[in-house]
Amino acid sequence: MVTGGAGFIGSHLVERLLEDGHQVICYDNLDDWYSGKRKNIARRLENPEFEIKENSILDIDALRSSLEDVDTVFHEAAQPGIPVSVKNPLKTFTVNVNGTLNVLLASLDAGVRKVVYASSSSVYGNGVPRPTPEDCETRPISPYGISKLVTEGLCRAIREMHGLRIVAMRYFTVFGPRQRPDMAIRKFADLMSSGKPAVIFGDGEQTRDFTFISDVVDANILAMERSSADGEMINIGRGNSITVNEVVAKLREHFPDAPGPVYEGIKKEDVDHTLADNSKARKLLGWEPKVSFDDGLREFVDWFRSSRP
Ligand SMILES: NC(=O)c1ccc[n+]([C@@H]2O[C@H](COP(=O)([O-])OP(=O)(O)OC[C@H]3O[C@@H](n4cnc5c(N)ncnc54)[C@H](O)[C@@H]3O)[C@@H](O)[C@H]2O)c1
Repeated sequence: MVTGGAGFIGSHLVERLLEDGHQVICYDNLDDWYSGKRKNIARRLENPEFEIKENSILDIDALRSSLEDVDTVFHEAAQPGIPVSVKNPLKTFTVNVNGTLNVLLASLDAGVRKVVYASSSSVYGNGVPRPTPEDCETRPISPYGISKLVTEGLCRAIREMHGLRIVAMRYFTVFGPRQRPDMAIRKFADLMSSGKPAVIFGDGEQTRDFTFISDVVDANILAMERSSADGEMINIGRGNSITVNEVVAKLREHFPDAPGPVYEGIKKEDVDHTLADNSKARKLLGWEPKVSFDDGLREFVDWFRSSRP
C-alpha cells in the first residue's frame, strides 16, 4: 500500500512498484489542497494490479479494512509544505501526527510486515553540521518539521513496544516530474514559462540538497527489500547542495525569455541550508543517488512543458 499514492512522490512509487510486478493499493483521499492528483494516477487505473481506496488516513476503520493482506506500507500521505504549516498548523498536525499514528496502529493490527515512513530533512532546523548526519541534534523551526519529528518518535515507540518493522526516510527537497505546485522549482517554472520573474525569498544564497524523484523511489524499494535499515532514521539526500540563485540561473537556460529574478523578504520558517550526509543510506541500504541536478532539472522541464496545455 502506498498512502498518499496519488501525490508527487507516492505516484512515482506506485508506478515503480507496478513495473516491478507488485500489486499496489493507493490509499489517498485526493486532498484538495492542490489539484491534478487524479491525473497523476489516471494511467494506472487500467492496470488490474492497481487499486485505489479513496479514503482518509484519519479514518482508522477504513485503513484497517484496506490493509488486509498488505505486506508493506509506504506511508507518504501527509499535509506537506512549510508555509501552509505556519498558516494552518492544526491541519498539519492532525494529518501528519494523528494520521500517521492511525497508519501505524492499523498496520500493527493487520499484521503488516513493514512500514516505510516519509519523514523530512525539516526535522533538523538551523545550525546543524553540514553535511548533516542523522544523529545530530534535531531542532525543527516550522510546525511541519515538528510534526515530522513527533511522528518519527511515534514510529520509534511503536517499534519498541510492539516490534513493528519501521524505517523512517528523511527526504531532502525532492524534485522531478509531477512536483507539487507549491515547491520552489515548480513555482519558478510556472512564473518563468509565462515570461514573469521568479520570486526569491531572501537573497537567494540559501542552499538546498535537491534530490531527484527516481533516487527517492530507489531508496524506498531498498528499504522494503532489505532488513538492515529497520528501526533507523535515514537521510535520503543527494549529498550536494546548490543555491536558490543557481537554481533560477539554470532554469533561465530552459526559459531564456524569462526576466531575472526579483527578491522578497526572507521567510523565518525556512532553514538557511540543507545538505545530507548520506553515508548511512549508502551503508545500510546500498543506496546511491544516480541523477545529477542538471539531468533531473532537464527531466522536470520536459515534463513541465508536456503537461501544459
Ligand atoms: N516533496 C518533498 O520534497 C518532500 C520532502 C520531505 C518529505 N516529504 C514527505 O513525503 C511525503 C510525500 O510528499 P509529496 O511531496 O509527494 O506530497 P503530496 O502532497 O504530493 O502527496 C501527499 C498525498 O497525501 C494525500 N493526503 C493528504 N491528506 C491525506 C489524508 N488525510 N488521507 C489520505 N491521503 C491524504 C494527498 O492527497 C496527496 O496525494 C509527505 O509525507 C511529505 O511530508 C516530501
